[in-house]
Amino acid sequence: MPSLFDPLQLGAITAPNRLLMAPLTRGRATREHVPTPIMAEYYAQRASAGLIITEATGISQQGLGWPFAPGLWSDAQVVAWKPVTQAVHDAGGRIVAQLWHMGRQVHSSVIGEQPVSSSATTSPGKAHTYDGRQDFETARPLDLDEIPGLLDSYARATENALAAGFDGVQIHAANGYLIDQFLRDNSNFRDDQYGGSIENRIRLLREVTQRVTDTIGADRTGVRLSPNGEVQGVNDSNPHPLFEAAAAALDDLGIAFLEMREPRPNGTHRLPDHPPVHPVMRKVFKGPLALNADYHGDDAQAALDAGEADAIAFGRTFLANPDLPRRIAEKLPLNPAREDLFYIGGAEGYTDYPNWDEAQAA
Ligand SMILES: Cc1cc2nc3c(=O)[nH]c(=O)nc-3n(C[C@H](O)[C@H](O)[C@H](O)COP(=O)(O)O)c2cc1C
Repeated sequence: MPSLFDPLQLGAITAPNRLLMAPLTRGRATREHVPTPIMAEYYAQRASAGLIITEATGISQQGLGWPFAPGLWSDAQVVAWKPVTQAVHDAGGRIVAQLWHMGRQVHSSVIGEQPVSSSATTSPGKAHTYDGRQDFETARPLDLDEIPGLLDSYARATENALAAGFDGVQIHAANGYLIDQFLRDNSNFRDDQYGGSIENRIRLLREVTQRVTDTIGADRTGVRLSPNGEVQGVNDSNPHPLFEAAAAALDDLGIAFLEMREPRPNGTHRLPDHPPVHPVMRKVFKGPLALNADYHGDDAQAALDAGEADAIAFGRTFLANPDLPRRIAEKLPLNPAREDLFYIGGAEGYTDYPNWDEAQAA
């Protein structure tokens, strides 16, 4: 079985190790969703990842309701992403953009219109806005004749990712956002070809992935899913056949990698409601598969040893340890993540986590 430190081919991208940086929203862009210079420093610090998956990045204003999160729909955003990808490449790394449409998980005060989703539902909890947390509003179901425009938005963001120097993209189909709102049966009540049967509920995922692979190539396209539990009110009554069919569809499209947040029973970032789904998916998805949530080192290697995954994506541990691969290789202690600073803006809790040498020198 491979070591975490063996290289892995992810389509056209050669990852020198199997420790991926999981996507992490950090809210350090401008109010116009334009990346800022400090983001180049942050990502370059983490260039020793086998592959960096960026924070979720909006494909359109309609899809981006997170304050100060970056987008990829405007020329200004493309221009401002270039120094970020350049800094990562200069530091020897690889970076793909996570493409995001939040669907109903937004507030109209941020996106400027009523939220859209698969069906007229309301997310539980409160939305992040520029004026603090506010109640979610009831979403408007996307009309059938709006789907081509949505696919165009994914294609344009993918073209922009290429222009900005990214090595590829990851389609965010996890965590209760728009594509997940179509996939799972407690948020999708449509009676057209995008609702009802499993084949219908995976249609949007398949169409988005097809458009993205047509634009950038399947060998530069990844997908993220979160099959085994409730996220932001989105869940499924029978996830195993649903996500098995989704994995088979993604296998047909030949994507470069599939990455999944599959929390385990003792997880610290949401808990599972269902047994793991990745075993049935791995049987039909033949490409590289990465698992995520609560891995730290030995448990990550154990997942590779068991043949469960080809790579592991690390979120909070990478956030707090810019040199995570070295720390795991040398079994060095890990910096704890400072949760209160996750989203607040500025350098504190962002670019000031020391690497091991800096920590020893301090
Ligand atoms: C601060 C923070 C921001 C996150 N942002 C994203 C995101 O933008 N996209 C995404 O798919 N998941 C996001 N997640 C989930 C992480 O990618 C990951 O699934 C989660 O942290 C569990 O992995 P870990 O135990 O290795 O941290 C975020 C998690 C945290 C803690």
